[in-house]
Amino acid sequence: QAAQKGGYKHFMLKEIFEQPKVIRDCLAGRIDHASGAVRLPEIEALPVPGRLVIVACGTSSYAGLWGKQIIEKLARVPVDVCIASEFRYADPILAPGDQVLVVSQSGETADTLAGLRLARERGVPVIGLCNVVGSSVDREADFVLHTQAGPEISVASTKAMCSQMVMLLLLALRYADAKGLLSREDRAACIEGVQAMPKLLDDHLPFMRDTAQRLARTYSEATSFLYLGRGPAWPLALEGALKLKEISYIHAEGYPAGEMKHGPIALIDPKFPTFAIALADELFGKVKSNLIEVQARGGRIIALTNPGLDLEVDHPWVLPQVFWPLAGFTALPALQLFAYEIADYLGKDVDQPRNLAKSVTVE
Ligand code: G6P
Repeated sequence: QAAQKGGYKHFMLKEIFEQPKVIRDCLAGRIDHASGAVRLPEIEALPVPGRLVIVACGTSSYAGLWGKQIIEKLARVPVDVCIASEFRYADPILAPGDQVLVVSQSGETADTLAGLRLARERGVPVIGLCNVVGSSVDREADFVLHTQAGPEISVASTKAMCSQMVMLLLLALRYADAKGLLSREDRAACIEGVQAMPKLLDDHLPFMRDTAQRLARTYSEATSFLYLGRGPAWPLALEGALKLKEISYIHAEGYPAGEMKHGPIALIDPKFPTFAIALADELFGKVKSNLIEVQARGGRIIALTNPGLDLEVDHPWVLPQVFWPLAGFTALPALQLFAYEIADYLGKDVDQPRNLAKSVTVE
């Protein structure tokens, strides 16, 4: 096993550091050199959906929520994200023109598979987005897009989410192209930005880990965390909170920052820290004012942010600035590393957290 871990203490850490390669592998062959067109031949036969219904569980559902934000903004295709265990019993309304996208790393999650089968019974085209070739999702979906994350061993999913995000971004670009929606500049910024992401992350991951290690020591006594973000950063806040609770057993909840005033704000005191995602996008000012509310109640704050932003918090964690649809690719490893370093510092079994399974194949 030590050899398989490639010198890393845990599979989770190794898999976090594999994300630059995962992005490279997911992009391989996907962008036409000459025309810059996005190539997704697996779904070429499908028109742009009238509505895309994403069905998934756990981390894959958060990738789906992120995808919704990106697809709706870039391509103006309506996207609904359904938790598979709800979708399967909801008698879901599926209309002509809808397509279902089932997102699953393992391709074996029982609820997700039940959702896939239900959608197929209803005659809706089902696309599987999965990592494991030969899995049930791979075999049963009408169309399949593979993520190129490679085997993911750690129970807590990391690189699989990154790979799902790459594929969802490509899907957004394909839809936007088909509808002629993106300006030449924005399109180039997306494509060049995602192609440059592996190198950017390779350069920054070691620094991110140092920061995560320092912050983990500072915050390891917290018993509960609030994760906040808006827009595409909201699903990342959900994922950051999920990672923390999965492997460190510290309670955490992810919230859309603007919704904080409708509940979680009552919890804020000096012992209840906030982990915010406050990156340079059109919602920065809104997130900032939410954080001022946290500070007014004595709450300590860690904030992922970008250079030059006017934000005064206890622990600003400055990430390189990228074009807005790509910011998730920089925030995700920071969130993962923070959870990892706290869990490791507390001596938890990072790769095999209690009560969790890599793939939940029973209901
Ligand atoms: C389990 C795993 C999670 C994963 C979820 C969905 O709960 O512990 O890491 O996100 O299943 O798995 P899937 O293979 O369908 O993406």
